[in-house]
Parts: sequence; structure tokens; C-alpha cells
Amino acid sequence: MKLCMIGTGYVGLVSGVCFADLGNEVVCVDKDLNKIEKLKKGIIPIYEPGLEELVKKNQKNGRLRFSSNLKDCIIKSDIIFICVGTPTKKNGRDADLTQVFNVTKKIRSYIKSKFKIVITKSTVPVTTGDQIEKILFKNKSKKLFSVVSNPEFLREGEAIRDFIYPDRIVIGTSNDKTNKILKNLYSPLISKGAKYINTTRRASELIKYASNAFLATKITFINEIANLCEKTNINVEDISIGMGLDKRIGGRFLRSGPAYGGSCFPKDTKSIVTTADKFKVNLSLIKTVIKSNKKRTLLLLNKVNEILKGKIKNKNICFLGVTFKANTDDMRDSSSLIMIPSLAKKGAKINYYDPSGEKNFFKKIKNVIFSKNIKSAIRNSDLVIIHTEWNDFKSINFKSLIKKKNFVIYDMRNIYSSLKMKKDKIKYFGIGR
Ligand code: UDX
Repeated sequence: MKLCMIGTGYVGLVSGVCFADLGNEVVCVDKDLNKIEKLKKGIIPIYEPGLEELVKKNQKNGRLRFSSNLKDCIIKSDIIFICVGTPTKKNGRDADLTQVFNVTKKIRSYIKSKFKIVITKSTVPVTTGDQIEKILFKNKSKKLFSVVSNPEFLREGEAIRDFIYPDRIVIGTSNDKTNKILKNLYSPLISKGAKYINTTRRASELIKYASNAFLATKITFINEIANLCEKTNINVEDISIGMGLDKRIGGRFLRSGPAYGGSCFPKDTKSIVTTADKFKVNLSLIKTVIKSNKKRTLLLLNKVNEILKGKIKNKNICFLGVTFKANTDDMRDSSSLIMIPSLAKKGAKINYYDPSGEKNFFKKIKNVIFSKNIKSAIRNSDLVIIHTEWNDFKSINFKSLIKKKNFVIYDMRNIYSSLKMKKDKIKYFGIGR
């Protein structure tokens, strides 16, 4: 199959490379010429374990190409995947579909006679497929296009594994011929055990949003339970285990920590409630989740204030990890983007270290410094905040590395055992403990 991935972000790049690895001829196209030139040289714009090797391997065997010539790529492909961004609009509510529709218009103008399957992999609100179809069908034969929804469920940091061993593959189309072609495209994954679901396009679009909203709800739920645990001297991890063993609940996504972040949960929860509002349906539960998650960052900041007994000014605070989760360089909607400026504004001196490197956002903030390693980041700390659960932070000898006598650790990911910390006479706070 000849595939064209439009957009070389996380979704387009990872999916394109993996499809090539499964034996397809793939071209990844992007309007960002600089990105394409770099990709041609094997320079990967994102941090995703295993991606670089897979790109190089498939470039070498000739199955993977990068291009900025959209017209040529569209004309020569059988299946076109739309993988462009759908960020939250400036109004902070609905998804901005400008890029999706711009690409759709281009596809329409370039296709003359050969049948194409057009797939949205980007996360798009219910009925977007209908709108794409409307654009494509304008003055064109309906036989030229089949518009499908095929959402991605890739976690950053685990994206390649998630692509190869998905829990499910969702294909939203009512066209039997298209369904057959796509089932065939995904057959190497289906034969390894992935469940293949064919449903309507609208249902497929909603499956993606409902899944992310549910996971965000699950995290928020355990985060609120953690708040209760802190007041009642219970370890929230015992609750997660006790609840998670119930097969109806399941243990995953029951880890309490800072507010959830990333490129999907915050934007998708906002988008699904806005879509529902448009259809005059009140998704009150998800609205509450959004509010609770927003409050969570302030709640943890209050805890920092409590730990430092209200004396934040001139305190040396170290952040270990600033990304929204480990194994990614992505800063989108990370709670550190609110916590660090807020503490710096109150006069704290912030040192931070993240294995994925320095972050541009913090460069412009006074009193915030990037350290090149854990050692120099924590050396002068009054308080060390473990914000992200990178493996690098899991066995630090705090006592030998920190000069200050009465330093405190605030472990927002519950990496360390509070008992061990007590034994080592280290002042330590976790989440929900
Ligand atoms: C998510 C979805 O999981 C994926 O299916 C979708 O396609 C894209 O969005 P990702 O953004 O990579 O993937 O992050 P994920 O691993 O799901 O974590 C999201 C957030 O939830 C992170 O901030 C993470 O730290 C937090 N989280 C996750 C918890 O706080 N507790 C948990 O138990 C799990």
C-alpha cells in the first residue's frame, strides 16, 4: 500500500514509520521545510524512545520517505492520513480544526480521477468527518473519496510499542470496500492479537474523546481520594491496589500525582464538553474533572507553601523533571509550567533538571536556572520537588548530594518509600500518604 502521512508530529511520524516497518511504502509530508530537511538526514524532532533507529532503518530500506511536496505525495498515494494538530482554540474551549480543513481543501484540489481513502488520525470532534466529506465532495464525484476516522491511542514515550501492540484498532467507516482495505493494512497487527473494531465514523470519533475523558476522570478520581488519604493517614497506593484488583476497575491510571497534563487529556476533555454543549448535552462530570485538575496544581502549590512554613522567599527549590510525564520532552500542559513561575514570583530560587534538556519557556523567567545534571541541581536545595517520574530520579543519594542540613523532599510521584526516608532521617512528603 502507498501511504501518505500529512503532518510529522508525534502521531504522523510514529504511525508513518511503523506502517513503513510493516512493509508499506510511506511518505511523510509536512509544510515545515526545516523539519523535513532534518528528517531526511535522520534528525528526529521529538524525543521518542526507539524512533530514530526505526526511521533510519526504514529510510535505508527505501520504504520511508520525507517530502514537502504535498501535491505529489497526495497524487501518488492510495491512503492519505491527516495527522495535523488540533489544538485548543484561543477561547480555551473547542478544538481548532483550521489545519484539518486546510489540508482537506488541498486534497480536494489535487485529486482528479483515482480513488483515495482519506483518514483522520488527528483527534477531531464528532461530525468532523461529515464536514471533511462535504468539502471533498464539493463539485467532485462521491466515488473519488472514502472518508474514515481511525483515531490513535499512542502514549508518548511508549508510542512505538502502542502502535505495534494496540489494545484495539478502531476504524470508523460504513463503506465495506474501505473497511476491507484497512483491515488488510492492519492485518500484521491483528494477527498478533490486536482487536479490530469497525464502527460508524461518528462513533469512532467519539470513542477517542470518550476514552481520553474517562482516563482523565480516573486520574482525577484517585487524585481526590489522595487528598482524603493525606488527612486520614492512609497510603493512597494501598487504595489504588485495593481498587485496581477489582477487574471492573483495573489498576492502570490509578496513580495519583500532580495534575494530568500533556498534549491530549487537557485539550480533549475541553473539546468533548464543548462539542456536547453544542448538541445541548451537559457533560457535567467531565466539566468537574477539568475544574478539579486545574485546582490540583494550586493545591500542590499550597502544600509547598505549607512544607516551607510560608517562607518561600529566597528558598532554593529544585525541580527534578518538568515534563508532564517521563520519557518525553513534551512540556504541553505540564503542571510545572504553572508551579515554577508561581514559586519564582514569590521569590524562590529555582534550579531544575530534566533528562530531556533545558526548556525555552523557563529561559525568560527570573530566578529559574537549568542545571546540567541531578547533582548540581540539588546541591544547594532547601526543597527538592520530584515532579516527573524519570528513572534517573529513582535512586538518588540525597544525603550525600545535598549540602543543606534540613532539606526537604516533596515527591509528587511517590517514587520513594516514606518508611525508608524516615529511617534515613530525611524530611519527606509524598502524595496521598
Ligand atoms: C494520552 C493517552 O493515553 C493516549 O491514548 C492518547 O492517544 C494521547 O493522550 P499521553 O498524553 O502520551 O497519552 O499520556 P499518558 O501516558 O496517557 O498520561 C497523561 C497524563 O496522565 C500525564 O500527565 C500522566 O502523568 C498522568 N497520569 C497517568 C497520572 O497522573 N496517573 C496515572 O495513573 C496515569
